Amino acid sequence: NLLILIMKTSNEIKKEFINFMEDRVHKMIPNISLILINDPSLLFVNSGMFPLVNYLMGEEHPMGKRLFNIQRCVRTQDIEEVGDTRHHTLFEMIGNWSLGDYFKEMQLPGFMELYVKRFGLDVNKIYVTVFKGDEVAPRDDESIELWKKIYKEYGIEAEYSEDPYDVGKGNFRIFGLDKGDNWWQRGNTPGEVGGPDSEMFFDMGVNTNPNHTGPVAINDESGRYVEIGNSVFIQFKLDENLNWQQLSQKNVDFGGGFERMVSVIQGVIDNYDTDLFKPIIKHIEELSGKIWKDTEITDLKVREAQNFNFRAVADH
Ligand code: ALA
Repeated sequence: NLLILIMKTSNEIKKEFINFMEDRVHKMIPNISLILINDPSLLFVNSGMFPLVNYLMGEEHPMGKRLFNIQRCVRTQDIEEVGDTRHHTLFEMIGNWSLGDYFKEMQLPGFMELYVKRFGLDVNKIYVTVFKGDEVAPRDDESIELWKKIYKEYGIEAEYSEDPYDVGKGNFRIFGLDKGDNWWQRGNTPGEVGGPDSEMFFDMGVNTNPNHTGPVAINDESGRYVEIGNSVFIQFKLDENLNWQQLSQKNVDFGGGFERMVSVIQGVIDNYDTDLFKPIIKHIEELSGKIWKDTEITDLKVREAQNFNFRAVADH
């Protein structure tokens, strides 16, 4: 089939996302400034949910309970990783929200449908994680059962494991991880909202971190399994004593890093090989008189080192 050979451009992927959300009766909210007004919690916007914090806590949003957007974000915690295939400081995030409307039962099947049916990803390469529970919130059995049902619809009998090294073995598809991996909040100050989450990973087929050796876990730094989306179930708020209290409503806060998504959809291992970065790299070549060295994809170590300066400038 010739049609499947035609690669989706990043613009087409964005349009696909917008159509999908509009089909599901969501309204698009604008991409806000990276610099926040009247919000002392962080220097830069680092996720799409920033303008929605009050609404996640129950205030009525003028555009309704189902929203989505494409938000430019800055995250500096990965700055030392810039130069590899997939970490960025400036990136875009696609996101959708349910403000006390639908919950896991609609979010998780929709998340799979968007990635597999609309974006065309191979379901056999998709793995998910859920929160395995602690003293604040129990193990997310609801999501485990939902994911089993969803995988079944795609012909896969998915099993659950709490050993992240079980990835790639048998039928293990759903992994229970702890707070470090499957809980999301922006900061740790009174009033902060957060909750357990469920992430999706895509099997790149090789370790995209060329320095990794030994066994591979779903959530490690090998880069074999790359995180491509996160559905947070925002149900809690930190009180004055930094204890989590239940919110009056259950919300969904979904975010997916656009550059990584484009690279897996376009079937390349390196984000800088997507149509998002190619024009920037070309422009850097013109300005600097230097040449981007195209290296065999198998030689990721050489590839990263040779083009490090290009990568850093293109990211920033
Ligand atoms: N706000 C969530 C995140 O950034 C979706 O991962």
